[in-house]
Amino acid sequence: MNLDTLTRVSTDRYLDNDSVTVRMHAQAAELIPGATSRLHYLFKPWPIYAHSGQGCRLTDVDGDERIDCLSNMTALIHGHSDPQVNAAIIDQVQRGVSFSEPAQPEIALASLLIDRVPSVEQIHFRSSGTEAIMMAIKLARAFTGRTRIAKFEGAYHGYYDYVQMSFSSTPANWGDAQAPQSIPSSGGLAHSVGEEVLVMPFNDQSGVEQLLAKHGHAISALLFEPLSNRAGMALPAPGFLEFLYQITRKYGIVLIFDEVITFRLGEAGAQGRYGGKPDLTAFGKIIGGGLPIGAVGGRADILSLLNPASSGQRVISGGTYSGNPLSAAAGLATLKKLTPARYQHLEAMGKRMRDGLNQIFRRAGEKAQAAGDGSLFQIVPTDQIIENYRSVPQDAAAFEWLDRLHRALLAAGVIISHRGLSCVSTAMGEAEVDEVLDAFERVLTPGLTD
Ligand SMILES: Cc1ncc(COP(=O)(O)O)c(C=O)c1O
Repeated sequence: MNLDTLTRVSTDRYLDNDSVTVRMHAQAAELIPGATSRLHYLFKPWPIYAHSGQGCRLTDVDGDERIDCLSNMTALIHGHSDPQVNAAIIDQVQRGVSFSEPAQPEIALASLLIDRVPSVEQIHFRSSGTEAIMMAIKLARAFTGRTRIAKFEGAYHGYYDYVQMSFSSTPANWGDAQAPQSIPSSGGLAHSVGEEVLVMPFNDQSGVEQLLAKHGHAISALLFEPLSNRAGMALPAPGFLEFLYQITRKYGIVLIFDEVITFRLGEAGAQGRYGGKPDLTAFGKIIGGGLPIGAVGGRADILSLLNPASSGQRVISGGTYSGNPLSAAAGLATLKKLTPARYQHLEAMGKRMRDGLNQIFRRAGEKAQAAGDGSLFQIVPTDQIIENYRSVPQDAAAFEWLDRLHRALLAAGVIISHRGLSCVSTAMGEAEVDEVLDAFERVLTPGLTD
């Protein structure tokens, strides 16, 4: 990788000792542990700080503009400051940002999501994807009368205690491939969390069968993310989703799809694209149009546990901002703008990006690939087929390679996540995709940047 020649090019002022970034970072480091509350965004030596965004471009506080292939961690499917989304937000702001009382945007967003996603009969809004997952698990526990949950190794589902298991395990601690260890991926978890969470191997039917034969009758929920970015966006193997449906029927387990990121893959999200029949689906990100949101939707007989009029043990929920009209209005405008033509455009741009990147990796002799599907792409430092989390190198050299690539791309005018997660937005056309490809080419091909 030709990174050394790229240490200083134009879009790189945030590294200057007298930059606005350095001043802001020094102040932030005093006030906020790690200098930002978005710790997953943090990278060395310090992050760029956003000043403004327009379409697919983000300008940092030192005035450098880059193409944004991260778009608030994939939440901004139309890019920054989209005129229609802005108009919906401003319209709502003028009538009030939040109320104790329910308001029309919540109902309109519920109606649109229920229309688009066949598995969703009813929906309940929260304020983040994490909260949506938390509520989905709570509903599954109340519905089944069991407390344990199952999740796949490597899958990230937010920062609720019970899902902060085994999304960052390593060869040193992950144990048997068919019966992965439950390893805490955060401090501060109760010891009992490990006992409550069964970690399973993705795309491995016999591994899942064996684990559920042993534990299935104690499991309330099986949590599944269709294209898990920490697991290199491995596609579900043929038949795996039907298998998950059947095996969860066998043991009476609630099947939860985490579509917080993958809902951007189509009108009905990843379940519309790959199939699978979730009982519950967790949503977030794009359904809030860039404002905080989460939702859990699915079978009415499960969701009805939230209804104060329901008989039996109710699930108690609150949330000062749950279903708030501002997020709902922004989400509604965002989803309405996602017409079939725009989905097609996202498909074409995503494919152009992945194909172009894979050619560049091959030409440059890099053992890497652009994985993903639809509008999502993920840079993974392996040229091998990705089946699950263990196919993705988890060693220091792999992380160092990604860090260096990320750093060099910033200098070349492109933002991706420092762990490789990336996406296209409707604000990108062929010219912008080619600009990104050109930046990768310059970074990865010795000689071009001299
Ligand atoms: C797959 C997945 N699930 C859940 C979450 C949590 O969502 P939030 O960050 O809105 O709490 C995320 C966040 O990135 C995610 O990627």
